[in-house]
Amino acid sequence: MCGIVGYVGPKPAEGVVIEGLRRLEYRGYDSAGIALVDGGSIVSDKRAGKLANLEKAIAESPLPPVTTGIGHTRWATHGAPTDRNAHPHVGRQRRVAVVHNGIIENFAALRHRLESQGVEMASDTDTEVAAHLLEEQLETGADLTVAMQTVCSGLEGAFTLVAVDAQDPDRVVAARRNSPLVVGIGEGENFLGSDVAAFIEHTREAMELGQDQVVTITREGVSVSGFDGTPAEGTRYHVDWDLSAAEKDGHDWFMRKEIFEQPRAVADSLLGRRGEDGLLQLDEMRLSDQDLRDIDKIIIIAAGTSFYAGMVAKYAIEHWCRIPVEVELASEFRYRDPILTSDTLVVAISQSGETADTLQAIRHARVQRSKVLAICNTNGSTIPRESDGVIYTHAGPEIGVASTKGFLTQLVACYLLALYLAQVKGTRFGDEISQVMDQLEQMPGHVQTVLDKADEVYALARDHVDSRSVLFLGRHAGYPVALEGALKLKEIAYLHAEGFAAGELKHGPIALVEEGLPILCVVPPRGRDQLHDKMISGIQEVRARGARTLCLAEEGDTTIEPYADVLFTLPQVPVLLQPLVAVVPLQLFACELASQLGHDVDQPRNLAKSVTVE
Ligand code: AGP
Repeated sequence: MCGIVGYVGPKPAEGVVIEGLRRLEYRGYDSAGIALVDGGSIVSDKRAGKLANLEKAIAESPLPPVTTGIGHTRWATHGAPTDRNAHPHVGRQRRVAVVHNGIIENFAALRHRLESQGVEMASDTDTEVAAHLLEEQLETGADLTVAMQTVCSGLEGAFTLVAVDAQDPDRVVAARRNSPLVVGIGEGENFLGSDVAAFIEHTREAMELGQDQVVTITREGVSVSGFDGTPAEGTRYHVDWDLSAAEKDGHDWFMRKEIFEQPRAVADSLLGRRGEDGLLQLDEMRLSDQDLRDIDKIIIIAAGTSFYAGMVAKYAIEHWCRIPVEVELASEFRYRDPILTSDTLVVAISQSGETADTLQAIRHARVQRSKVLAICNTNGSTIPRESDGVIYTHAGPEIGVASTKGFLTQLVACYLLALYLAQVKGTRFGDEISQVMDQLEQMPGHVQTVLDKADEVYALARDHVDSRSVLFLGRHAGYPVALEGALKLKEIAYLHAEGFAAGELKHGPIALVEEGLPILCVVPPRGRDQLHDKMISGIQEVRARGARTLCLAEEGDTTIEPYADVLFTLPQVPVLLQPLVAVVPLQLFACELASQLGHDVDQPRNLAKSVTVE
């Protein structure tokens, strides 16, 4: 949820830390802060609001040019987003400064103990207790690494902590439990970050850490241990994207840039999936064909946009593989006591791979001996690491808080999974699978066709800047698209927006329809039994009651024309694959409307990219 940076090396730490925070600001932007180690003392500054406030403060009151520092950008959990609650937090001697992501669940008891010993708290956060506890340990003669091990052993919850000690200026120490932290390995310098974006401009060599580990970085090296002090090894890897992938490339928003990257992202996610024998191959599936043949039920768990990708997956898997699929919100999953067996495949979809609700859900599934397959965009993140197998999407870094290319590539991974299961279980002939793969391989071109008409969508968005409410209708695979379109509008335009299954409208929601209400309708392709005709009936029903119908329908579909106040044409694609093209105008619509309303599209209020608390 929060963004964390740590640095030790020859460069001025202020620049490295602030630049890292800029790249991590998508993770939280309620406040930002920095602490540097300056000849035996801690120098820090921290400000409520966006990073720009901190930068302004530093410009007015410069920090010393020292070379060890930590920084933080916050998504508030405990304590209001104020200067006082901004990180870093320091111990009472100001010997230790610490930044934190996550929640220390036993902080109340720890705080009570510290206060009863006379410690006066300077904030309302759970983090501050860690600063005091670390300082307590240092006063016993322990070094910062040992202090971190001891303190973390007594903490409950999910957390990443990064700390510096004023009296040990060339060392930064961090710890993680169920919260992201990666190490960047440079020449004569080392880095810490919530993700690799924090240090990608300095090094593409990274190291991931296991659970309950402490890492110490100095200029000379990196050492890892367990909370109990046992030496451990991190896993090194090379980051295969570079700084330009984390820049806006001339677009006003990362979100807009990411929408336009979708043809590439879809193509990349399809690369290398067909072997020379024409069969599908999923490199990191790691579940044997026999395991997959034994599966008698699939449960897909995810949150937000990823959940909607899961809904599309249900249509594809049930149709192509004839296996029953349930789709469940990750946050609800383990509380309903789901029926899981070793023949249940749990599929966890997560762009970030760090969503706490989804992570806890897969842990619950694994305890019940179900197999877990992750669909994830973030190499080395926790969810794929804790899963039996993984299908990585290849969207590249997604910085905009509102997911776009993440969603499209999740859809691709879901189709691949469905086809792979069909291949292994023999529920579809090889030529049928090849035919769908051919169709999928044409999708980057179709997505590009939609993007080439972005101006039409922008004009439509500009016509709706005064709308207070927008509804979205879809059926079948178009229903999750309607839900996703509404979510995008809520997230970044702060508009009342709701998605409905078109057939459900008459059971209540149609009462919302009044003169001039804009309703975006995702019309399924023709030719699928009565689906198309039923959708047209739904559109007629709302239009008869005064709604303004904004229809997305396939090229050549003239039957919709009499009922569409506005018609945007989509390329002709099969019904199951239509979400890949139908969602794109909805993304563009939300992005443009939010821009017109003057909102910060990349960092919408109250949200964070990666939700690492339950
Ligand atoms: C999408 O626009 C959202 N910001 C959000 O719903 C997101 O999809 C959800 O939090 C799940 O995230 P994940 O895919 O990283 O697990």
